[in-house]
Amino acid sequence: MEPITTNISSRHFEQAAIDKGLSVTRSRKSLIISDGKSQVKVSNSLIGKQSPLTKVFNKKGASKLLLKTLGANVLEGYLFNAEERGRALAYAESLGWPVVIKPDDENKGRSVYVNVEGEDAFLTYFDRVAERYGTAFVEKQCEFATEYRFYCAGGRVLAVTRRVPANVVGDGISSVASLVKAKNRLKKERRYPRIKLDDEVARVLDKQGLSMDSVPDKGRTVPLRSTSNISTGGDSVEVMETIHPSYIEAVEAVFARLPDTFIAGFDVFIREMHEPASDSNWFICEVNRRPAVRMHIFPWEGEPKNIGKEIMEMLF
Ligand SMILES: Nc1ncnc2c1ncn2[C@@H]1O[C@H](COP(=O)(O)OP(=O)(O)O)[C@@H](O)[C@H]1O
Ligand SMILES: [Mg+2]
Repeated sequence: MEPITTNISSRHFEQAAIDKGLSVTRSRKSLIISDGKSQVKVSNSLIGKQSPLTKVFNKKGASKLLLKTLGANVLEGYLFNAEERGRALAYAESLGWPVVIKPDDENKGRSVYVNVEGEDAFLTYFDRVAERYGTAFVEKQCEFATEYRFYCAGGRVLAVTRRVPANVVGDGISSVASLVKAKNRLKKERRYPRIKLDDEVARVLDKQGLSMDSVPDKGRTVPLRSTSNISTGGDSVEVMETIHPSYIEAVEAVFARLPDTFIAGFDVFIREMHEPASDSNWFICEVNRRPAVRMHIFPWEGEPKNIGKEIMEMLF
């Protein structure tokens, strides 16, 4: 039997179902997987039941409150109206510079400003977000910005991927521009989103005293963005086997408090993944209701995870 869907996640689930001898039928935009007794719906990245409460995770302001209620470690953050720039500035000052400013309900790192420091920069980026979205979310910046995606299903963590912001590694001969070109060719070959070149890249290079024409030393990793989304060219590295198991337990504990939800993707900042979790060395950045499987089944580096196979074992 040939898979009938094209979205990477649903195709992966579909293939896993076919491999297990289950039946797959299409119903409008979703797939129904069945063993003749019970059935499970797949719609793009979403599989299984999901509490309506998780809709809150589409909004960063409300999400923060729910996560706090669930007892999760989170960074301080608050949502402001466009007219509240004075209050927002006072709040940012109370958090301490730098801060992060982002839209309440966007995703994929769109309009997220990291490393915002001082009144002028704050008001510039606050207005930029607030004018476009009507509100702006101001958050304490995590000083250890290494981020991990925990793919959770059926109460368990099935994969942990380290998300590294878009970067190039110097060879002592090539300019940043040509290193980016080469890396983007590789990204294209492996069907990964390419590194987007925009103001943010120029800003991040400038902070390191570099430009697109600089030639980084051999072996030097040059970060190109301050956000780690894979969709803007970040790398995914599978670390489930090497991360300290206490983080897996901690994320599973938060996940267990989300009733009636089969899958979720937790984005977590971790100071040092080999050290055990404490109250102050990890924070949940956000929860994704429809976590894509691609970064786990085709990691840029590390052991691929067969998420679909494990999920079919759980469900049937
Ligand atoms: N408080 C923060 N401290 C440090 N980095 C952050 C913070 N918030 C966001 N980022 C960076 O920006 C990225 C996008 O922010 P996120 O809140 O996940 O928005 P989106 O929903 O657009 O992905 C994160 O993956 C992370 O790399
Ligand atoms: Mg995100």
